[in-house]
Parts: sequence; C-alpha cells; structure tokens
Amino acid sequence: MSRTVFRTKNVEQSIRDTEEPEHALKKSLSALDLTVFGVGVIIGTGIFVLTGKVAKENAGPAVSLSFVVAGVVCGLAALCYAEFASTVPVAGSAYTFSYASLGELPAWIIGWDLVLEFALGTAVVAVGWSGYMRSLLDNWGWHLPGYLSGRDGAHGFGFDILAAALILVLTAILVIGMKLSARVTEVVVAIKVAVVLIVIVAGAFFVKGSNYEPFVPESAPAPAASSLKAPLVQLMSGFTPSNFGVMGIFTAASVVFFAFIGFDVVATAAEETRNPQRDMPRGILGSLFVCTALYVAVSIVVTGMQHYSKLSVDAPLADAFKATGHPWYAGAISFGAVIGLTTVCMILLLGQTRVFFAMSRDGLLPRFFSVVHPRFRTPHRPTILLGVLIAIIAGFTSLSELAELVNIGTLFAFIVVALGVIILRRTRPDLPRAFRTPWVPFVPIVSVLATFWLMLNLPAETWLRFAVWMIIGFIVYFMYGRTHSRLAERQQPATTGDRPADGPR
Ligand code: ALA
Repeated sequence: MSRTVFRTKNVEQSIRDTEEPEHALKKSLSALDLTVFGVGVIIGTGIFVLTGKVAKENAGPAVSLSFVVAGVVCGLAALCYAEFASTVPVAGSAYTFSYASLGELPAWIIGWDLVLEFALGTAVVAVGWSGYMRSLLDNWGWHLPGYLSGRDGAHGFGFDILAAALILVLTAILVIGMKLSARVTEVVVAIKVAVVLIVIVAGAFFVKGSNYEPFVPESAPAPAASSLKAPLVQLMSGFTPSNFGVMGIFTAASVVFFAFIGFDVVATAAEETRNPQRDMPRGILGSLFVCTALYVAVSIVVTGMQHYSKLSVDAPLADAFKATGHPWYAGAISFGAVIGLTTVCMILLLGQTRVFFAMSRDGLLPRFFSVVHPRFRTPHRPTILLGVLIAIIAGFTSLSELAELVNIGTLFAFIVVALGVIILRRTRPDLPRAFRTPWVPFVPIVSVLATFWLMLNLPAETWLRFAVWMIIGFIVYFMYGRTHSRLAERQQPATTGDRPADGPR
C-alpha cells in the first residue's frame, strides 16, 4: 500500500507528459507577463475589503504590521515555490511539485485542496466585485432588486446575478486563449496599480497623527460567540479569546494573508512560460515584493486618515476618502476596485482549472478533462465545468463564510511545497535548478513553522471545515485515483519487482 500511495512521478516524466501534442499547452509567457499576472491576482479583496475589517476588529493601526508578518511568511514560501517552479516547469503548481517529491497521495490531497480553495477564492472575490459594482450602479441611480443581489441582501431567496455573470464571462475568455487573457490582464493591472497609488499619494495628505493612537490597541476580550470562532491557538492555550494586543496582530495576519494569495498561482503557469528556468523565480518574487510594499503603504495611510474604530468594513479605502470629505476620490477608487477584482477572479479561475487539468492528465481525475481544444489549445473542458460550478457557488454564497477556508488551504499547500524542496534536494540532487532556495533546509523549515503559526491563528471552525474537505479527498482518491493513475499503469509490469519503475533513483 505505502508503495502505491507514495509512488512518485519522475521529474523527466512530468516534463515529457507536457510534450504530448494532444495534452500540450502553448508556451507564450515572459517574466514580465508573469509579474503582471502575479500582481493581477494578488491585489484584490484582501487590500480593498479586509484591511478595514481586521483593523477595526483585531489589530487597529498595527494592521500594517500584520501585512508585514503575512508578507514575510509568503516571502519564505515564495523562495521554496521559486525553486520548485524552476525545476518542474509543468502545469499544476504545488500539486505537480509534490507528485515529484512526496508521492501520489500527498500530491492528490494537495491538488484536491488547491482546486477547491481556488474555486472558493474565485467565488469570494466575485462576490466582493459584485458589492463594489452594485455600489457604482447605485451611484448612477440603477438599483438591482434584493433577490438578484446575493444572499446577504435578500429576504428568502437570493442569487448574486452579477457575481455569477462575471464568472461566466471570464470562463469564456479563458476558453478562447491564454494570450488574449494575458493582454486584458495587463491593461487592468495598470488601472488597479494606479488606483492603489492614488490611495497612497493622495491619502498621505489627509493623514492625522492622532489616528495612530494607540498604534497597538490593548488586548480586550472577544465578544461572546461560539468558541469555535476563536483562533485555534487561543483555545489550545486555554486563554479567554481576545482581540487586539500583540496576538491581535497575528490574528489579523492570518486573515489579511488572503491579500497575498496569488503569487503561488504564477507557478501554475510554468508550462506556458517561454523560459521557466529564468522567468518563474523572477515572476514570483517580483510580484510578491511589489504587492507587499503597496499593502504596507496603503494600510499605514488608511489607518492614518480615519481612526481604526471608525473604518468601514465594506469599502474601507473609498470610505476613508468620503470621511475626509473627498467623495470624488472615493468614486474613482470604487471604479478601480471593480476593474481590479475582475483580474483576480480571472487568474484564480485560470490557476485552478490548470491544477484540475494536470490531475486529469495524470489519470487521478478522468482523462476526458485533459484533452486540449484543437484550435485554442486551452483545457476547455475543466474550464467550462468549473466555471459554471463556481458561478453557481458565487451566486448563492456569502463572502465571509469562505475566505478563511481559502487561507487555510493555501497555507497547507505552502507547507507541502517547503517540505518538498527538502525532500527533492535529497532524492534528486542531480536535477538542474535554475533557482535554488538559499540555506536549505533552514529556510524551508522556518517557512513551515511560520506558515503553521499563521494556520494556528485561524478560527477552530475553519480547521474543522478543512478537515472535512480533506476526508472527502481521501475517499475520492481511494475510490478512483489510485486505480486509474497513469503512473500506476506505467508501473504495472514492475509491480512484481522490488521497487517502482518510475520513482526517483
Ligand atoms: N489576493 C487576492 C485578493 O486579495 C486573492 O483578493
């Protein structure tokens, strides 16, 4: 049993699979495309929406430190992702990396996890987009009825028609082709970054020093709610659940971590990159660096413009400008948010269809899904299937229920990738690595510990939901993937021998 579930896919085999014409994606992306791609997905709901909520409820002005904490955790993980992405340049990100290093079952679990987390992430961002869009439509005097505005605004039945429509349009763009979507992304990313810079530069003129008092608000007991809503680390240590204080900075970091999700998605496009050995590390680290700098600046400015206790939780950046008497800026920022969240949705959708595609190509999901479109050369079948499913989820789901689940899934993927770097260095020291993570195993171990610390700061109920997803994944693997795996077919003649035919030497 352990020989089958821990069978590893040889790295050369992973690369050969991508060369089969029927299953080959077009190689068209450069380092700049990847950085733009990264910034396009990273800056989104996290900075535009969550900043206000966590400053108000968990960290006060020290939310800027939460962004630093989350940024450092992501930076460590990025160093590991960059080595893997430049060594194993095939679609599927952490899934592919763990197949080459940890074995089939861990790879399946991570792939299963990534498809669901990206799907839920896409739904979360689409619902956030729809909120900003409705606010713009309201400005123009056009009001959607409650039952078409999503579950939160509805009495009884509610379907978020805008969120669902956005996902269906983006699905069509992705089916038509990567190049078109990369071009659209470039223009949209330029608008989004311009809006973020407006917040920083214009907002700096309206900062009042007194709003930074106290910078780290004193720790206060959390409002009585189900203890499952408290961070797991607080329940484990037996303290009364609290907000603010130093622990509040970490609680906030585990939530604003959502703002960084996406740099890992860049790695899912490795197979479509012209020179992955050189361009993947540049794309991943470059986009992460740009975003961390912008987030810290935005959070310092916004908490300086308005006292943290008064920040809005729906549109904190725009509302801080309204509060200082500058509604024109607020309108422009809402418009930028609508444009910006569009690319976030599109790239999350792209990343997760590619993971699904890679799992299908390996036979862990039906191979039907990995036949690329004869003309567009895109994996149209999983793109359409998942696009429609996510449109339905986004239509019926409220935002806050899912964001933390997305975070725990992504953090879990970081841990698997960091462990994978250490293992692959031992099992395949001979592989050429265009980018090498510095100080292995020290950096990957610190990355695992830092990531786990953020996970512990997520609510206990998020851990429970995550466990349920994972158990369902185990069941699917043992009922389908283990017996349909292509790797299993290739190893069939060798099963009477002593070791797997396709494993690492
Ligand atoms: N990082 C992305 C966002 O903030 C997912 O929306």
